[in-house]
Amino acid sequence: MFFLTSLLTGLLTISLTIIGVASAPAANYFWSSWSDGKPKLTVKNGAEGRFDVTWSGDKGNFVIGKGWNPGSSKNVTYTSTFSPTAGGNAYLAIYGWTTSPLVEYYIIEAHGDHHPSDNPEAKVLGNVTSDGGTYQIMTKKRVNKPSIIGTATFAQYWSIRYEQRPGGGTVNTGTHFKAWEGAGLKMGRHNYMIVAVEGQDSSGSASVTVGVASPEPVPTTVGGGSS
Ligand SMILES: *[C@@H]1O[C@H](CO)[C@@H](O)[C@H](O)[C@H]1NC(C)=O
Ligand SMILES: *[C@@H]1O[C@H](CO)[C@@H](O)[C@H](O)[C@H]1NC(C)=O
Repeated sequence: MFFLTSLLTGLLTISLTIIGVASAPAANYFWSSWSDGKPKLTVKNGAEGRFDVTWSGDKGNFVIGKGWNPGSSKNVTYTSTFSPTAGGNAYLAIYGWTTSPLVEYYIIEAHGDHHPSDNPEAKVLGNVTSDGGTYQIMTKKRVNKPSIIGTATFAQYWSIRYEQRPGGGTVNTGTHFKAWEGAGLKMGRHNYMIVAVEGQDSSGSASVTVGVASPEPVPTTVGGGSS
C-alpha cells in the first residue's frame, strides 16, 4: 500500500503541556490513512493511540493505522476488536516500510478468510517464535506497484501468526526484523511503522488502541541461576 495523507497527532497534548497543564508525557503517534477511494469508510482518529474504522461496500482497498515514524525494534502493544464480515479479506497487522532496499512488511496478528499464503507467488521461508506464538515467514515480489516512493518494484515480507489475536497483544517487532534478516530478507532504513487495519473487497469494523510496553522490570534477586 501507499499513503496519501499522514500527520502527527497529539499536538493538543503538547500545547497543553507547554502552557503548564498537568499531563502525562504526550504520546505523539504517527497517523496514516490510505484508501483507493472505493471502500465506504467511517474513520475516527481518537485520542492517544486509539482509532476506529468501519468499512463497507465489499470493494476497494484501504490501510489505516497509528504508530511511529520511523519504525524500530519496539514492544508494540495493542488492544482491539477486529470484525471483518464473513468471508472478509482483512488484516490486523503491524505494518511498515523501509527504503534501500524498499520493503513493505506485515506482522499479521489476525486476518479474515484470506491468508497471504493463498498467493501462489508467495515463498514460505520458515517459522519464527515470538510473543507466545508462532509466525510463518513469507515473502513476495511486487512489480510496478504503488509504494511510499511512487510506483516501484519491491519485496513484501510477512510474519503471519498461526494463533490469531484479534483482541490484543504485544509484538516485539525486533524479533521479526531479526528473523527476516536471518532468512535472507534484508531490511533497509525504517520509514513509518503502524498498527494497521487493512481491508480489501470486504466489509467490517475495528477499534484499536496502540501503545508501547514498559520495559521489563529487572529482577532484583537471583536464585540458582546458571550465570
Ligand atoms: C522487548 O521486550 C523484551 C522482553 O520481553 C526485551 O528483551 C527487549 O529488549 C524489548 N525490546 C525493546 C526494544 O525494548
Ligand atoms: C511452523 O509452525 C507450524 C505451527 O506450529 C507447524 O505446523 C509447522 O510444522 C512449522 N513449520 C516448520 C517448518 O517448522
